[in-house]
Amino acid sequence: MPATSPPVSFDPDRGLAVLRTPNSVYALRLHPDGSPRHLYWGAPLDTADLAALPATGSPADSSFEDDAAADELAPQTGARFGPAGLQVRFADGTRGAQWRFTGHRADGGELRLRLQDRRRPLRAELCYRVRPDSDVIERWTELTHLGPQDGTDGPITVDRLDSAAWRTPALPDYRLSHLVGGWNSEFQLRRDRLPVAETVLTSRRGLTGHHANPWLAVDDGTADEEHGEVWSTALAWSGSWRITVHRDPVGRTGWTGGFGHDGTAWTLRPGERLHTPVFAGLYTAHGFGASSTAWHEHLRRHVLPQPERDRPVLYNSWEATGFDVSEAGQLRLARLAAGLGAELFVLDDGWFGTRCDDRSGLGDWTPRPAAFPRGLRPLADEVHRLGMEFGLWVEPEMVNRDSELYRTHPDWVVHSPHLDATELRHQLVLNFARPEVESWAHRTLDTLIREHTVDWLKWDANRPFTEAGWDGHPDPDRLWIGHTRAVHRIMDRLRADHPGLRIEACAGGGGRVDLGMLARTDQAWTSDNTDPVDRIGIQHGFSQLFPAQAMAAWVTDSPNPATGRSTPLRFRFHVAMAGALGIGGDLSSWPAADLAEAAELVARYKQIRPLVQHGVQHRLTPPGPVAAVHYASRDGRDHALLVWRPSTRFGHPPAPVRLPALDPAARYLDPDRGREYSGAVLVHRGIEPPLPAGDYASCLVRLHRTDS
Ligand code: DGJ
Repeated sequence: MPATSPPVSFDPDRGLAVLRTPNSVYALRLHPDGSPRHLYWGAPLDTADLAALPATGSPADSSFEDDAAADELAPQTGARFGPAGLQVRFADGTRGAQWRFTGHRADGGELRLRLQDRRRPLRAELCYRVRPDSDVIERWTELTHLGPQDGTDGPITVDRLDSAAWRTPALPDYRLSHLVGGWNSEFQLRRDRLPVAETVLTSRRGLTGHHANPWLAVDDGTADEEHGEVWSTALAWSGSWRITVHRDPVGRTGWTGGFGHDGTAWTLRPGERLHTPVFAGLYTAHGFGASSTAWHEHLRRHVLPQPERDRPVLYNSWEATGFDVSEAGQLRLARLAAGLGAELFVLDDGWFGTRCDDRSGLGDWTPRPAAFPRGLRPLADEVHRLGMEFGLWVEPEMVNRDSELYRTHPDWVVHSPHLDATELRHQLVLNFARPEVESWAHRTLDTLIREHTVDWLKWDANRPFTEAGWDGHPDPDRLWIGHTRAVHRIMDRLRADHPGLRIEACAGGGGRVDLGMLARTDQAWTSDNTDPVDRIGIQHGFSQLFPAQAMAAWVTDSPNPATGRSTPLRFRFHVAMAGALGIGGDLSSWPAADLAEAAELVARYKQIRPLVQHGVQHRLTPPGPVAAVHYASRDGRDHALLVWRPSTRFGHPPAPVRLPALDPAARYLDPDRGREYSGAVLVHRGIEPPLPAGDYASCLVRLHRTDS
């Protein structure tokens, strides 16, 4: 391949489009019927070789076969019988578009292919973007109603508009990796053989969801952490979504996905345009570890707003006080937190309106007089004086019926006039798609930040949507898109107007963590489950796509409030040190020895923070009897290894942990234990982790390269 191959090219004569990233290539070709069809996605190939590839068409010359399995966006017409990423209905009842290719635009790293329906005023643009420092390909779709050409075309109903369809080359077998879970059990990694069937991963909740995350990876069933080709994709959307994976009986596998879920439909009026979120795809040749590393790099370079800023060690009072907050109680906790080395103090739920429990006050964002008679400013000022930043919990999208906001604006909630509205946690969802609700929320948050010198917002959302209608609106399902877009927009505006502000994403734990949310937040609250044993698995799943700097991890009390399990403080810290460390326990009940040990562990964390938050993460073992994660500095000189053994078996010593990312030719010193190692031994044979005896054993090992 010539060294000068452009990142994006389109050859109109051959109808061939090629997108190049540093280590992969993606190619598609126009079919004679005008539809762009997938050609190749994998290791780099020459353009001439790509042009010579046969089309991925029908496997047999039969009137029963599907010849369009490779559509870049399947339009529900022709011999296409798989999942269609574009589903439209015209005013006369006709379903499906038939394309004519009308042109392209290749500009820097961006390619747009323009398709026009042969008879109707409907245009689709398939959009692609690559960047010089990432193997991720970003794709999205823009659909435009071009207006009545003959005065007879009415609105177009859009039943499905996916961002992109993806496809792997033919593999001997197919395995799907994805993340499942629930409240308190997010990010559980599943690795299942794909059935010959359509498999739908989806959220119908209006939020990304605890139960599934819009990330998946496909391999041939043999890839492991260090070896094998992996194709993975992630959707940048924080509302309902749907990805349909199709392994067909002929041995082909592809998937199509985007925002929305089954049963929702949008109306496109003449002149209107609907654009989808980005659906990003990544090919890697060296296993799940390399795939995660490449995603982490991409997020750091192109998604997270301020990746270079250290995530502060935070203290959050929620598990200590619940709703029982007061100025004196929070000040006591703030002083203790500062003594441990916390850099940010976050006042959680309960500080506003009449909020003494979860039944009232949500929506009334002024300090609760009984808890903060002098307002929040004295607390914020003292937190700042103690050398910490001040953070505040908000849940702007929600309202209790028992609130001034609801009494004043009962019509602002997501509801259907002829259905009873279901309350969950005694609350309803505000319809942020309504411009007046969006501007109220923005104004309210902006004022809060200014008046209370807020440095950090924890933005929570504690229920999904139900009975989601929009009374009086001609296109009520727009709320599913409009709400999410408004949330994103408000966050973007707040950040722009308050450059120092940081935002933590939360939805009852990890219910809204995705590339769309992380483009405007600094980190995500991973799970309300802070039990360190459960967290090892949750963190393992989280790390498949998201970097450690975005993973909020707290040390809380023992026994753990969620699981009742008792674990040593050191073990809890060592697990939480694998992400953005926080403390969430009731410090006023911690014995002096625990406070002293905690302060020492916070200081240790700050030593390794550059590696954890800004280095490269290598997962060393899947969660099991012994689990371990390795963080390396970018220059390869400094390393931190966290090893956890939740339960001992027969008193056997743990097996050595191999460190394949080290340089076998180098030498490494463990400065804390004064031991020196040969790199070759660490790479090929491993290190004996210095774990203490017993259950809930853990250790932190630092290594420093000494030979250069
Ligand atoms: C759910 C969050 O995940 C918790 O951390 C806490 O903020 C509560 N909401 C407060 O209601």
